[in-house]
Amino acid sequence: MHFLPPRNAFLLLSTLLQSVRSSPTPSTHVSISVSPKIQFQEVDGFGASQAFQRAEDIFGKYGLPEVNQTLVLNLLYDENIGAGFTILRNGIGSSNTSTSNLMNSIEPYSPGSPTAKPYYIWDHYNSGQFPLAQQAYDRGLQTLYANAWSAPGFMKTNDDENNGGYLCGVTNEPCSTGGWVQAYANYLVQYVQFYEQSGVKVTHLGFLNEPQFAATYAGMLSNGTQAADVIRVLAKTIKEAGFDIKINCCDGIGWDDQESLMAGLQAGPDPAINYLDTVTGHGYDSAPTYPLSTNKKTWLTEWADLTGDYTPVTFYENGGVGEGMTWANHIQVAMRDAGTSAFLYWIGAENSTTNSALINLLGNEVQPSKRFWAFAQFSKFVRPGAHRIEASSSHSNVTVSSFENQNGKIATQLLNQLDVDVEVGVKVTGVGAGVVVHPYLTNNHHDLEAMASLKTGPGGSFNARVPARSMVSFVTSS
Ligand SMILES: *[C@@H]1O[C@H](CO)[C@@H](O)[C@H](O)[C@H]1NC(C)=O
Ligand SMILES: *[C@@H]1O[C@H](CO)[C@@H](O)[C@H](O)[C@H]1NC(C)=O
Ligand SMILES: *[C@@H]1O[C@H](CO)[C@@H](O)[C@H](O)[C@H]1NC(C)=O
Ligand SMILES: *[C@@H]1O[C@H](CO)[C@@H](O)[C@H](O)[C@H]1NC(C)=O
Ligand SMILES: *[C@@H]1O[C@H](CO)[C@@H](O)[C@H](O)[C@H]1NC(C)=O
Repeated sequence: MHFLPPRNAFLLLSTLLQSVRSSPTPSTHVSISVSPKIQFQEVDGFGASQAFQRAEDIFGKYGLPEVNQTLVLNLLYDENIGAGFTILRNGIGSSNTSTSNLMNSIEPYSPGSPTAKPYYIWDHYNSGQFPLAQQAYDRGLQTLYANAWSAPGFMKTNDDENNGGYLCGVTNEPCSTGGWVQAYANYLVQYVQFYEQSGVKVTHLGFLNEPQFAATYAGMLSNGTQAADVIRVLAKTIKEAGFDIKINCCDGIGWDDQESLMAGLQAGPDPAINYLDTVTGHGYDSAPTYPLSTNKKTWLTEWADLTGDYTPVTFYENGGVGEGMTWANHIQVAMRDAGTSAFLYWIGAENSTTNSALINLLGNEVQPSKRFWAFAQFSKFVRPGAHRIEASSSHSNVTVSSFENQNGKIATQLLNQLDVDVEVGVKVTGVGAGVVVHPYLTNNHHDLEAMASLKTGPGGSFNARVPARSMVSFVTSS
């Protein structure tokens, strides 16, 4: 539906060539060089969250017909039909109710003390996130990141899931009710256990969201030392429960904020960083443009345009914060310059007319934004287990990134950030002649459209045209 059949793709390419031939402006020539021998970080995937009842939007909370519920699931998670997202970030709810957009907790009420037997409740629904995870796994999901924004209020210094507050018992934060660090670890492991018993594997577990920020909604404050207190206990609790689950930390509100937590995670005779699988940060206050100070994997786990003009279907107009090209560039910079192994937008799909999701659900309709197609230009062709490889461009405004998949397919993303078409000469070291290359185009007029395929000449080189203000992914057939 969103892909042109090859004949149309050929016509499209011919049309582009003709329009350029008759254009008075000579096009720019750019040389791109790709070297699979020089390998960087491993890729875990791409995705988004459906926390705070956005999962329920997908399941028709506001009346989306069943056929379009399936459509949006396919667009998000099916590799053949849509973006093939492989990471879902679930919110572990801390609320004692599920009114409005709140996520209900598995332990809504205090058992009275940290050592009393907790009253856990499992509804097999989890604000829509449990059935969503099942549907996503059915379509190829590989990674389920369960992330608590806050502990339940009764475990915190402010006795409230909202408005900041600390987990009782972390460094310098005592409570009259006692220390709740072990109880919180038990609670997080119980969440994983409920999912597992019901047939859904949680692969990664996190216990903080934007811990520098006292939000009016669920959230919890922490510095690196206090996060480390929890990580040590959580790691031990997971081990004792016999689970194979990876710990993430700390979803700092910006990349710099996450960087400032690293010292606390690395300090002491038993550094908490050793128990982490992945260091996670967001992009709001500061963008992921450099590697965090760690040799662990890093993920950009949340970022979105929450303030700009609503630009549902603009790939490029003026570089606006919600435009598709802007996000294609953010992803490329994060993967290339910050070395992230994953990139997640805030919300995948929701009923709203804002840029906070990749897909807008408008009444009965499903409206994928250009940001969605920019994500898909990466996620569909750069699969989990791929490695980023060396790639360079002769023009600083025609930017490149490249990845070699486990099956040997090389996916190279070119962003033409100029307002003229460019002729690119691409050379892929180590690839011989006669290899078929499939280009896919997204710009103001096209959504991840398959263009006529190309073939490499001697030395793995091929030539192509990339239209002005466009993104093209070139994918080798082997
Ligand atoms: C439910 O949670 C809210 C918000 O943290 C709190 O104000 C309220 O007292 C809680 N209700 C009960 C019955 O615990
Ligand atoms: C975190 O805060 C605690 C309590 O205020 C303090 O003792 C500790 O030094 C802080 N850690 C870092 C890394 O700043
Ligand atoms: C959300 O869903 C309701 C109910 O279908 C609908 O009336 C409303 O227009 C939707 N909101 C948006 C922004 O699409
Ligand atoms: C589903 O959404 C599409 C837009 O993506 C719309 O054209 C179609 O009418 C919707 N289907 C139904 C049954 O409402
Ligand atoms: C290239 O990009 C830079 C930085 O965004 C911009 O200042 C410059 O004008 C661009 N050059 C051209 C030729 O578009």
